[in-house]
Amino acid sequence: MTLNSKCQLLVLAGLLLIAIAPSLQTRLRNENKVKTAIFLSPNFVLEPGLVANKFYYNIDFPKGHIAIKSFDAEVVDELRNPVPLHETYLHHWLVVRYYQQKGLEVSKYRGNLGLKQSDFIIVRNSGICERDLFQYFGLGSETRKTVTNVPDPYGIEVGNPVEVPPGYEERWLLNVHAIETRGSIDRLGCTECRCDLYNVTKDEYDQDIEPDYIGGLRCCYDETRCKTREGFRGPKRSLYLKYTIKYVDWHACIPVNIYILDVTDTWKRWESTGLMSRHHCQIEYEVESCSAAVANNGCIHTKKISITFPNGGDVIYGVAHQHVGGAGSTLLRKPPRINFFLDTCDVDGLYLRRLHNINTASNDGRVICSSLPIYGEGKEPGNEAGYIVGMSTCYPRPGSVKISKGETLTLLSNYSSDQRHTGVMGLFYLLVAEQSRKSSSILHSRDNMGDIVILHNAVWAIAGFGIAALVAATATYQRQSEREEGCESILM
Ligand SMILES: *[C@@H]1O[C@H](CO)[C@@H](O)[C@H](O)[C@H]1NC(C)=O
Ligand SMILES: *[C@@H]1O[C@H](CO)[C@@H](O)[C@H](O)[C@H]1NC(C)=O
Repeated sequence: MTLNSKCQLLVLAGLLLIAIAPSLQTRLRNENKVKTAIFLSPNFVLEPGLVANKFYYNIDFPKGHIAIKSFDAEVVDELRNPVPLHETYLHHWLVVRYYQQKGLEVSKYRGNLGLKQSDFIIVRNSGICERDLFQYFGLGSETRKTVTNVPDPYGIEVGNPVEVPPGYEERWLLNVHAIETRGSIDRLGCTECRCDLYNVTKDEYDQDIEPDYIGGLRCCYDETRCKTREGFRGPKRSLYLKYTIKYVDWHACIPVNIYILDVTDTWKRWESTGLMSRHHCQIEYEVESCSAAVANNGCIHTKKISITFPNGGDVIYGVAHQHVGGAGSTLLRKPPRINFFLDTCDVDGLYLRRLHNINTASNDGRVICSSLPIYGEGKEPGNEAGYIVGMSTCYPRPGSVKISKGETLTLLSNYSSDQRHTGVMGLFYLLVAEQSRKSSSILHSRDNMGDIVILHNAVWAIAGFGIAALVAATATYQRQSEREEGCESILM
């Protein structure tokens, strides 16, 4: 072996070593890559007019201590093809976290009442309704075009074994409410659960429905039927809720809390006594039609509540839930109170100026999030004309929109009142990080070091493979980091 060939071997060995090092880095990095799990619910069978409001216990769900990064869903048929809203209207789907006693045999399908037993402990979101709306995830017809992504470095923490009480295990419940409207005499009426179209006088608990209750969930429970055209025949169909969960291993994520605000919340604080009532969320309300004379100008019905937010933190994500007719929803801060007594000593000009300044300041940054409906324009799933196929979302730069503990917030829900609407909703779903991003700065510096190490190795690679290889490697690395990483990857 000549000296030259020995030298070549040495160089080769060196290059091999260098080649292994970055692959080790990549492996560490990939440990926190985003995983995607796609599941189907148990099937439900619908035919024209029929309603399904099903509760499925112990649904398929990713295992382990993880951070949920997004949760999307849609109705599909037996061939897994998306079903348009004008055939099967998806009123809502929601997913509830609960702990179930170990060793308990529970059939996948049980009625609505199963949850009340002591074998189950519901793990509620962070608030703020007291009896209802305790789900972690859930949307309605807007599900196909509503972004649910939780941005890095945040995640919804689930599956932490430390949180589960001894003798219990974490499970998930799915509720799907779908209305088959093929052949309906009044599609909108059926989706708004108008009682006259359902021919019901008692609700699902056999309670009489009062004559002044003209529409809403009490009239379109499981197995009820909405009126179809005389003689209309359509085949039975087996349908599924297909749900897609993106998640990463928990480490290096900052937890976000889930809050659901409801514009029908009857909560009140009596200013004189400071006493507060309970958060009783009615979930649905009615929008009366404005008089025909003004209807041409586009009437807007605004429902509004003020509530005290129980905890503080950074707003990470916000989205509203509305039904057809919805014209947007806004979450605002209460304007600061103007204290007139402070200013009475000042000369008039100064007083006016101060008042003006306060008002200007209160207009800036009052809006926490505005979420607007996206109406479909065609026929295909995800773009059905006349339906809300998506809601716009808010992603404030983390740290830029804070809510303080005990702050008073105002929720506005607008609907077109050109015609009457029954059973409409005005919910607002918020993700709030109590822990600020600053406390994770260690993760950032580690992350940066990791990047430097990889770059350093890449520089060595130039010797072996030339600049072209580096360019290709960098491009691949960047694509991987966009596609695969979640929260923050730690390199040590
Ligand atoms: C409405 O319900 C009653 C029983 O509750 C039934 O006798 C009647 O046929 C129903 N009408 C229609 C149009 O389905
Ligand atoms: C809702 O309507 C009110 C007027 O009633 C208006 O001031 C507000 O900007 C509207 N908000 C949205 C999100 O459309």
